[in-house]
Amino acid sequence: MPPPLPHASQHVHIALGERSYDILIGAGLLDSPQAWQGLPRSAAALIVTNATVAPLYAARLRAALAPHYRTVHQVDLPDGEEHKDWPTLNLVFDTLLARGCDRQTVVFALGGGVVGDMAGFAAASYMRGVPFVQVPTTLLAQVDSSVGGKTAINHPRGKNMVGAFYQPLRVVCDLDTLKTLPARELSAGLAEVIKYGPIADMAFLDWIESNIDALMRRDAAALAHAVRRSCEIKADVVGVDEREAGLRAILNFGHTFGHAIEAGLGYGKWLHGEAVGCGMVMALQLSRRLGLVDEAFAQRITALIARAGLPIVGPALGADRYLELMRGDKKAEGGQIRFVVIEAPGRAGVRGAPDDVVRQVLADCTR
Ligand code: NAD
Ligand code: GLY
Repeated sequence: MPPPLPHASQHVHIALGERSYDILIGAGLLDSPQAWQGLPRSAAALIVTNATVAPLYAARLRAALAPHYRTVHQVDLPDGEEHKDWPTLNLVFDTLLARGCDRQTVVFALGGGVVGDMAGFAAASYMRGVPFVQVPTTLLAQVDSSVGGKTAINHPRGKNMVGAFYQPLRVVCDLDTLKTLPARELSAGLAEVIKYGPIADMAFLDWIESNIDALMRRDAAALAHAVRRSCEIKADVVGVDEREAGLRAILNFGHTFGHAIEAGLGYGKWLHGEAVGCGMVMALQLSRRLGLVDEAFAQRITALIARAGLPIVGPALGADRYLELMRGDKKAEGGQIRFVVIEAPGRAGVRGAPDDVVRQVLADCTR
């Protein structure tokens, strides 16, 4: 049974058989004893966080965990997408080993998607797997990266190329942590919120359009709804296709172009959410050129992406470079790039596209 939560908090359940878990969503959860009950008992916990988030929230998480673990260790990673790599991942293993952590040690990821993806990968591999809890503190991590069990680090040749599927035991989204998020990071998170509309839920898209100003000014009720509905949609998709045999690929709408932007510019130049926002504009134009949606639909989503403070014109890396990077995408098969396209409003699919059409899209959408 999930623990009772503070007033106004909510659960979203991820149904994955013995790997099922709950996402707890609410204000003040970091300090709520109930949010931390019922996790595996162990002598030790390790908080994996970073140099920015640690001073903001680590002491509160340590206090919340203190009643449950004899020792709460902590490792502060350097901050930034450019540190989502082997040397930084190794800092987690170094800490686990130096502190004598056994295979019961519970790993807590406190931070955004970078910390979550790396802590999750470390938990998946340390002693072949230790328990893992996600405590996402960015909007992007609360609506997407902390949910669903994808963990990874980047490689200079491609984004998230080395990793594992490894589900957390729980996700604790304290909405209050979003109050300290820089505006640019809030916008980046909105890219992944907007994504859920065209791929799965046009009523949610309508709601986002009506509430984008409230979301941008961090209205608590609007953020709570955006996080909950995003997690519900992701839970439905992951519940059907945990390891991306098919359906789950729709969650990568905008990501094939977006990952090429991130790797092509060098990790950390554009935020992941910014690259995804612009990548969605490109994927919409591809969908239009393939005759799947009309220009009015593409412009409707593009306008929303712009209202969220996200870039809608991509960097001019050159079409050859984009194509080279996208051929290395994880969805590619035999060197054939496979794009997530909108097949009709509210429904996405995965398909190839002729290079000349992709080149036209890149010519239209980069500068
Ligand atoms: P991030 O982890 O880099 O966090 C963004 C910035 O905000 C960082 O500087 C961080 O230190 C800071 N920060 C975090 N919480 C804060 C807070 N509450 N107040 C102030 N500052 C705070 O970036 P992100 O956008 O959270 O995540 C992007 C990463 O997530 C990418 O690496 C992407 O590949 C990954 N991702 C993974 C999945 C998945 O399914 N695993 C899905 C989407 C994205
Ligand atoms: N963010 C894509 C996925 O979780 O599958």
